[in-house]
Amino acid sequence: MSPLEETTLAPAAEWWQSAVIYEVYPRSFADGDGDGVGDLAGLIARLPYIAALGVDGIWMTPFQPSPQLDQGYDVSDYCGVDPLFGTMEQFDTLLELAHSLGLRVLLDVVPNHCSSEHPLFQQALAAGPGSPERDMFHFVPGPEGMSDDDGDGSATGTADAGGVPPNNWQSVFGGRAWSRANPASQTDTDWYLHLFSAGQPDWNWRNPAVGDYFDGVLRFWFDKGVDGLRIDVAHALFKAEGLPDSPATDGVVDGLRSNPQVSDQEEVHEVYRRWRTIAEKYQPHRLLVGEVNLEPARAARYTRADEMQQAFAFSFVKLDWDPEAWAAVGNELEAARQLHGAAPTWALENHDIVRSVTRFGSGELGSARARAAVVALLGLPGAAYLYQGQELGLPEVDVPVESRVDPMWARGGVCRDGARVPLPWTGDAALNHGFSLTEPAAQPWLPVPAGWGTHAIERQQQEPESSLALVTKALQLRRLLQKNEVFGPNDGGTWRVDAGNLLICERSADFFVAVAMGTEPVQLPAGSVLLSAEPLTEDRWLQPNNAAWVLRG
Ligand code: GLC
Repeated sequence: MSPLEETTLAPAAEWWQSAVIYEVYPRSFADGDGDGVGDLAGLIARLPYIAALGVDGIWMTPFQPSPQLDQGYDVSDYCGVDPLFGTMEQFDTLLELAHSLGLRVLLDVVPNHCSSEHPLFQQALAAGPGSPERDMFHFVPGPEGMSDDDGDGSATGTADAGGVPPNNWQSVFGGRAWSRANPASQTDTDWYLHLFSAGQPDWNWRNPAVGDYFDGVLRFWFDKGVDGLRIDVAHALFKAEGLPDSPATDGVVDGLRSNPQVSDQEEVHEVYRRWRTIAEKYQPHRLLVGEVNLEPARAARYTRADEMQQAFAFSFVKLDWDPEAWAAVGNELEAARQLHGAAPTWALENHDIVRSVTRFGSGELGSARARAAVVALLGLPGAAYLYQGQELGLPEVDVPVESRVDPMWARGGVCRDGARVPLPWTGDAALNHGFSLTEPAAQPWLPVPAGWGTHAIERQQQEPESSLALVTKALQLRRLLQKNEVFGPNDGGTWRVDAGNLLICERSADFFVAVAMGTEPVQLPAGSVLLSAEPLTEDRWLQPNNAAWVLRG
């Protein structure tokens, strides 16, 4: 019997099936202590703002102790709170407050790698080659007398004269995926694997002790009442047995996507089966949502009935303004849903990708399209994730080169800082546009551009046509339609492109979402328009870059 057949299907409707979750990037959300870095105190103070939007919960990116080489995705203690963000008491207060406001709380868990400062990695370094401590990670001996080359600021790396690492794998952030454990030593010739920066050593998931360790991490947060976990780089935990070279595509070995030896190994599914069992020991069941950056058919295998409940629809997250591409991806996701049961988990933005306003064309055009896109997103069947600032229509910021801190940028990759600039709460440039709640306030950790105040929350709250007002309205209507069963938890979606580049997603016989993606106005099929990104000038006619929710009958 396959593991799939052995599982009991989850109850027909769980809270997360049609939930909207708001991603909080704590260091850029609100700064409670005036040091220029967002924190738990800031989030506690501003939580009512999120509740008022009408979302079902928040996902917080890492706030656990970390050297902050990769803004917290280099974790040195999975069960703590970094003093930069506050204390465990504050986290407990936050959780309680969130629950009292009707918000679920999801945290990030980073199981592919930790920080090189993690005690278990430090113990492995100290224990030396061949030790059981080193078997918790991927240490591989190289020929004697070589030196290391990462040079990205980890405790273990220094600049290098060359040397032959164990294989040809590249880091997702650029450069090779290996660094010497002890570059000064002639006898310790081990290299260690890091798919990201040298300060983020990969765990060896073939060692059962690693799985046991993470069981404890899950239980720690679930016992506290945390409602779920977003699983970082969920498809990369297992590496091909023997760590063979990757077949280079066009002579290039990319960090993850084109390296089949580190991505989507079959053994990884066992981890999520085990985690699902843990998640379902709790009432209500805890949610697992995966960062599974794979094409729909492969990603859907992570949401089989006994694995995670959700995996982000990555092929959707990155779409440009192209109706054929939207329809193709939409239909692929629907096919995957029919095969494996789980509805797509929609998102258009997160802390790693260029803001949708900028991706869709910048300026007024980009803003109009981002409004239409978010209206479409919130009408689709399944769950949706919004990234902080998306409700404000924030554009990507071109962070000055001297202020960039992203380790991906430092290693030669793209810079992700432009989507991570602190939120503008007020129009007043003093106190960092209200980002800092106390005076005096240090400069924010990333500078805000001139004119940032035009997007301010305070301002948008007064404007009935603002992006914030539109997203709030869409969320409220979504709830109403769920309550009245116009939106069912098990709806599917059938996508097509009508004449004039009118993208349609038929959600049910009664309801469809339409987006005018062409250059001319287009007439909608029959029905009543319940919501549109811009007011309609003529009955059932959409101007270019407008979107609508339409009820038939
Ligand atoms: C995920 C995170 C990203 C981080 C990387 C390494 O992709 O979203 O921000 O840099 O994993 O942990």
